[in-house]
Amino acid sequence: MSADPARPHRGTIFLEEATLIGQESWPDGQYVMRLAAPRCAAHATPGSFVHVRCATDLPMRRPLSIQRVDREAGWVEILYKVLGTGLARLAAARPGDKLSCLGPIGRGFTVRAERPRRLLIGGGVGIPPMVFLAEELRDAPGARPVVMMGSEIPFPFRTRPSAVMLPGLPPAVIATMPLLDEWGIACRLASQRGYAGCYEGFVTEMAAEWLATLGPAALAETEIYACGPTPMLRAVAAVAARFGVPAQVSLEEFMACAVGGCAGCVVRVEGPEGPAMKRVCVDGPVFEARTVFPEAYA
Ligand SMILES: Cc1cc2nc3c(=O)[nH]c(=O)nc-3n(C[C@H](O)[C@H](O)[C@H](O)COP(=O)(O)OP(=O)(O)OC[C@H]3O[C@@H](n4cnc5c(N)ncnc54)[C@H](O)[C@@H]3O)c2cc1C
Ligand code: FES
Repeated sequence: MSADPARPHRGTIFLEEATLIGQESWPDGQYVMRLAAPRCAAHATPGSFVHVRCATDLPMRRPLSIQRVDREAGWVEILYKVLGTGLARLAAARPGDKLSCLGPIGRGFTVRAERPRRLLIGGGVGIPPMVFLAEELRDAPGARPVVMMGSEIPFPFRTRPSAVMLPGLPPAVIATMPLLDEWGIACRLASQRGYAGCYEGFVTEMAAEWLATLGPAALAETEIYACGPTPMLRAVAAVAARFGVPAQVSLEEFMACAVGGCAGCVVRVEGPEGPAMKRVCVDGPVFEARTVFPEAYA
């Protein structure tokens, strides 16, 4: 595989001079940004990400998940939280600015027909791929997905009470992401911060409480998809193991090239043939939870 970001990667990753067309700011340094990047938008799938140059004088790009795409209009949407220099510079960009964008990158989530009940779990900046997956699944065969999101800072959208029923959780747990409600998708929010209408606790505790209300037949049709910080993903694997359902998790690792050339992002996975080192950027970022957190299944 080529490490040269100037060349298209196997015809699936494109280098585009994207135009910033929208930048909304939310509390605690969170931003929702739209980039006109038609080739990336055309090929993105849930779980894939872009590698963005945040400013012309910053050589290191930053990897950011794709939250939504409009393939006809040619834009991709990302949600990010500023941690350091790169994303702070990105937050200073204004509509009309050009940003070099490499994407879409990575192997995203695999939707399996034999598991038509899908539970999507997103934590913090792991929320974006879950929104993308929910949008792709809303008209797919099978039940509409159930989405659960957790955050310890205010959610990067205006929460409101949901109009979509979700039996199995206390009625007071009613706050949702309005976009998902408009799509007719049941979504519930969790936080330890006591936000109105949210489940008080970790999103994985809410997921376990809900899964415990499903019977064996429903569990046999259920699969979990998750993205978030590593401790949350480890807890997702434990919940999946407890209820005997498969789970796919999207990992975050420090990345340099993001096109498979530098081995800077490798993680150890336990496959059927034993342990192997995999690159999160191009072999992932999505992996089967049991291969990344085998201890949860011991
Ligand atoms: C596949 C993938 C998808 C991601 N999706 C999102 C997203 O949708 N929204 C979001 O806010 N964040 C996301 N992240 C994390 C995001 O890339 C880092 O928070 C960001 O690179 C930090 O940059 P900074 O300039 O703010 O911080 P700095 O501390 O200045 O970054 C310094 C260096 O560390 C690297 N780095 C720091 N933290 C991380 C991290 N957690 N993961 C990888 N590299 C890191 C940066 O790439 C940079 O090279 C994702 C990471 C990966 C790997
Ligand atoms: S970041 Fe270079 S191989 Fe993944």
